[in-house]
Amino acid sequence: MAFRMALAGCGGMGLRHVYGMAEAAKAFGSLDLVAVCDRHHAAAAHVASEAKGLFGREPVVYTDFREMLDDADGIDALDIVTDTRMHHEFAVGALDAGIHVFVEKPMGLTIKACTLMEQAADRSGNTLAIAENYRRDPMNRLAKALIDGGAIGKPHFMVDIGIGGGDDLLHDTGWRAIKHRAGSMILERGVHNSDLVYYFMGDVETVYAATDIFQPIRRRGVRSEGLSQFYKHRVEDEFVGMDKVVSDAEDTAFAVLRFTSGASGQMSMSTAAPGHSIDTSTVHGSEGAIALPPSRTGIGPKVMLPGREHAIEGNSLLDMVPDWEMDDITARLWPGPRRIASYDMEFWQIDRKTIAVELQDFLQAVESGGTPEVGAEMGMKALALSYAMLESGLLGAPVTIADLLNGSVSAYQAESNAAVGL
Ligand SMILES: NC(=O)c1ccc[n+]([C@@H]2O[C@H](COP(=O)([O-])OP(=O)(O)OC[C@H]3O[C@@H](n4cnc5c(N)ncnc54)[C@H](O)[C@@H]3O)[C@@H](O)[C@H]2O)c1
Repeated sequence: MAFRMALAGCGGMGLRHVYGMAEAAKAFGSLDLVAVCDRHHAAAAHVASEAKGLFGREPVVYTDFREMLDDADGIDALDIVTDTRMHHEFAVGALDAGIHVFVEKPMGLTIKACTLMEQAADRSGNTLAIAENYRRDPMNRLAKALIDGGAIGKPHFMVDIGIGGGDDLLHDTGWRAIKHRAGSMILERGVHNSDLVYYFMGDVETVYAATDIFQPIRRRGVRSEGLSQFYKHRVEDEFVGMDKVVSDAEDTAFAVLRFTSGASGQMSMSTAAPGHSIDTSTVHGSEGAIALPPSRTGIGPKVMLPGREHAIEGNSLLDMVPDWEMDDITARLWPGPRRIASYDMEFWQIDRKTIAVELQDFLQAVESGGTPEVGAEMGMKALALSYAMLESGLLGAPVTIADLLNGSVSAYQAESNAAVGL
């Protein structure tokens, strides 16, 4: 069945989603893009014309989400790729109107916003899935199979460090600097890390963190090489004309984690580290360690065992997981053998394929009445881990994920909740 999809949010990631949709449509014939919406007509019109080239038919352009919903006769599913503050409002509106929802990470602006989304999915019976693309990389699938298969023995601890950046704004987007629009970079970027920490290590119990704003003055007009091609058409909101934005949201967090398994972990992240970057993610077990792959590069994991001079990498890794192979959706999008330990692809190709995997997983869940891989529960846990760092940093004390999820620890999020009327 080809689902009739609508897209809300036609900025950089919205455009990337259209390429992902086209990839899924080509591989599975599972969807058609019938409507796009952005509050800026120029952005929506650009994405609609790209869609025409890919789908052979131009989707209807809207600048008002409510209008698109009111015309929604025949829309089966909505893809929400606006900046984060609109996620809950659009998701709840669509779910209650009988439309299945696929929403970009972070699932919502706060835990309260996500709870409303989860409740709307439960009461409507419609599917809600979160677009969390990093875990869909086949190299992360292989790394998980190695850990779960015992390649490093019993996992004891994880170290996840993502430090870099300077005084620019990610993708030159002003909203990312503002707490009540992005929840801070610890959420906006760090939620990918949170999802992967859960993916590899399981449930987190407690978090203790120090957090800071080291670089409050953020320069506009700086665009990163690789991704700027997707952002040329976007129309800046209220930050237009400004050469800098004053950020009121944390850019740095150092956290210590305890998992329910008894394992421990460390997450360090900063987007305020000029001059030197550190990017490493490892899991250490009773028998050895694994260097996790840098997501969306095609580079595979490496296993390091004591007494061996060299790390185990490449196809030798596959001997350690004889039963592992790519799942059906991924295998259709990554042609060739189903068992690979690295791959060679340009970023733009990897990007649209990982988006196609998560979309297809969502559509299959809708069709079968099953559960998407990343649903409300997982989306909220990832949000809770990112906010646990921020709440702990504010309190100066450890916090539990349970208290984040039940809302009893929420002081950091209060201002954002108030800004969106929650
Ligand atoms: N998974 C990933 O790798 C990844 C990468 C980038 C962004 N994202 C996520 O995608 C989302 C969008 O990020 P982006 O980089 O594309 O930002 P962006 O600013 O480029 O795009 C957001 C778009 O939403 C539109 N919008 C905002 N409010 C609206 C409203 N009320 N009605 C209609 N349109 C509205 C804006 O006009 C803008 O065009 C964010 O949630 C972000 O976290 C995910």
